[in-house]
Amino acid sequence: MRAASAWQDYELIDATGGSRLERWGDALLVRPDPQVVWRNERTSPLWAKADAVYHRSDKGGGRWEYRRRLPEKWQIGWQGLRLVVSPTGFKHTGVFPEQAVNWAFYQKAIAAAGRPIRVLNLFGYTGGATLACAAAGASVCHVDASKGIVAWARENAAESRLADRPIRWIVDDCAKFVAREARRGSRYDAIIMDPPSYGRGPGGEVWKLENCIYDLIEQCTRVLSGEPLFVAVNSYTTGLSPAVMEYILKTLLCPEKGGTTACDEIGLPVSSTGGVVPCGATAFWLADGVQAGEKKSSMNAPIVLKPLAQEAQAEEE
Ligand SMILES: C[S@@+](CC[C@H](N)C(=O)[O-])C[C@H]1O[C@@H](n2cnc3c(N)ncnc32)[C@H](O)[C@@H]1O
Repeated sequence: MRAASAWQDYELIDATGGSRLERWGDALLVRPDPQVVWRNERTSPLWAKADAVYHRSDKGGGRWEYRRRLPEKWQIGWQGLRLVVSPTGFKHTGVFPEQAVNWAFYQKAIAAAGRPIRVLNLFGYTGGATLACAAAGASVCHVDASKGIVAWARENAAESRLADRPIRWIVDDCAKFVAREARRGSRYDAIIMDPPSYGRGPGGEVWKLENCIYDLIEQCTRVLSGEPLFVAVNSYTTGLSPAVMEYILKTLLCPEKGGTTACDEIGLPVSSTGGVVPCGATAFWLADGVQAGEKKSSMNAPIVLKPLAQEAQAEEE
């Protein structure tokens, strides 16, 4: 497990009974998390102080219940980046905080390369990875199918004072864009992708990650430069094992480009217990000499399960 731990403005305070209690800046949010199948007693009194709770609906989707007036949006910082957070439909906030462990890796690899690095960031969402790479000195092509999400990423770039960096903002279908870049002869030294588990393409085509991932990575190999640095494939799909993503990278890249591969779950440390909640997985192809980063296993750390006093639990209910 590689755990994202360099946050100051974000904290996963506690996780139990299908929910996470998180601090986003000054706001405390409770969100459902299907990975949190354990049901130990709550270990933080802050559950009772949540500002907003997301309730899933049986009919799909859900809604936020606000217990305190929150601004429509606010910012959190990560290593000099400023990221706009806003509780949106489908429980998202605009930041996947576990990705910070990957952002730190991208920055280290780009800085250590000692040469100009061109990054292609597919399914780039609100730009965390794009901005981390740009801040480390790379030029980045950020691709996402949603115009609104790309506008959000550009706002993050402006707030992070990176708006003048060499970033191309592309609103397009990733597979189509990569095919076009291959035909145009565009080449990238690093490719990052975080494809959704399930969706529909612009023509209504069904996108199921397990069925489409091989073709997409295969397409991507055609736009890699002659001296590639890394390829990172992230997935939140429980049906797609990290080892499968690594196998695809190994078979498609190592015979021609050499290098090594790695894969691991990524996660978020729980501040009140010392455990780590898994949040998807990332597989890497790495040029020789590049390392995927430090591991932290929740199994080796002591877990502290100090339930709240009975009265505090009762008060909360
Ligand atoms: C953050 S990623 C997905 C994160 C995570 N893998 C998940 O399943 O929740 C989602 C992003 O991919 C974008 N996206 C989805 N399908 C796309 C496509 N075919 N081409 C480009 N972007 C796409 C969405 O607009 C969104 O910003």
